[in-house]
Amino acid sequence: MTKTGTAPSDTTLEELERRATAHRDRPSYGHDALIACDRLVRIFTTDGVEVQALQGLDLLVKEGELMALVGASGSGKSTLMNILAGLDVPTAGAARVAGCDLLGMDGKARLRYRREVVGFVWQQTARNLLPYLTAAQNVALPMQLRGRSKQKAERAEELLAMLGIAEIRDRRPHQLSGGQQQRVAIAVALANNPSVLLADEPTGELDSATGEQVFAAFRRANEELGTTIVIVTHDQAVASEVRRTVAIRDGRTSSEVLRRTEVDAQGQESLVAREYAMLDRAGGSSSRGVHGVPGHGAPRGPRTGAGPHRGVAGRRGRP
Ligand SMILES: Nc1ncnc2c1ncn2[C@@H]1O[C@H](COP(=O)(O)OP(=O)(O)OP(=O)(O)O)[C@@H](O)[C@H]1O
Ligand SMILES: [Mg+2]
Repeated sequence: MTKTGTAPSDTTLEELERRATAHRDRPSYGHDALIACDRLVRIFTTDGVEVQALQGLDLLVKEGELMALVGASGSGKSTLMNILAGLDVPTAGAARVAGCDLLGMDGKARLRYRREVVGFVWQQTARNLLPYLTAAQNVALPMQLRGRSKQKAERAEELLAMLGIAEIRDRRPHQLSGGQQQRVAIAVALANNPSVLLADEPTGELDSATGEQVFAAFRRANEELGTTIVIVTHDQAVASEVRRTVAIRDGRTSSEVLRRTEVDAQGQESLVAREYAMLDRAGGSSSRGVHGVPGHGAPRGPRTGAGPHRGVAGRRGRP
């Protein structure tokens, strides 16, 4: 007689029930993350041709993180940022930011989300500011739109001072350098005290010295206000100055680098970077292996799941 049923004969009903319960009671994916993207898919259709810009992307970002997102041109970085900014809606998957479900929001909730929960800074300096308003007026505008007209002038001053550009408060964008414009743009994005600040190549149009000043402004915002910040960048200097860099490849997260400062017995500080490959849904490694970290001579990290960020990078691993 042929055997029916696929369970091995030593699996009892109790064992199956125990496993099912354990699975149900486990906290959901990314329950403690501020940003949680779960198998995010975005398909664009133009003239009947489909482009899968995101192909099941997983990403968790904890509250208070300052992280960089890198990847080749066309890998899906801007697509992801537009979704996180609430400007675009994914085709499938799940995305949650600060408790807001990005797939389920109606028009009103989406507007509130864009005004209060996220702030963004674009690469094109001109896209970030209104040309006919002064720096201080640009920063005050989002607060005015939200109906907080009382403290707005004061807060605008504070933000400009924090970012080191208090003296240019009365100038219009065309009277500012590119780096000053981007720092005003950061102040605008921070005006309503968002949970998350998103920036898509914010230093892309600047030379490296100016880019550094702008990056310092992001760091300041992260340290002083505790704002969670995600920066898309091609700038190696930016990518190597943050504690966590996530790489996207073909619409998926492919690897990440975690950096920390270590002090040796002689009191010498050094930056240690480890690279982790992301596990795919089946528990195997992603299509490419682990790479060394350029510029740091860092050790190759253990595979995801064994490192300090277990539960972030390795959440998808087999139990
Ligand atoms: N609105 C759109 N309509 C059709 N295809 C799109 C659209 N936006 C993006 N794509 C396609 O989706 C893919 C991902 O694009 P995306 O802009 O996210 O890449 P990126 O990583 O930001 O690249 P870059 O570094 O050049 O800015 C590309 O193949 C792109 O052509
Ligand atoms: Mg882009």
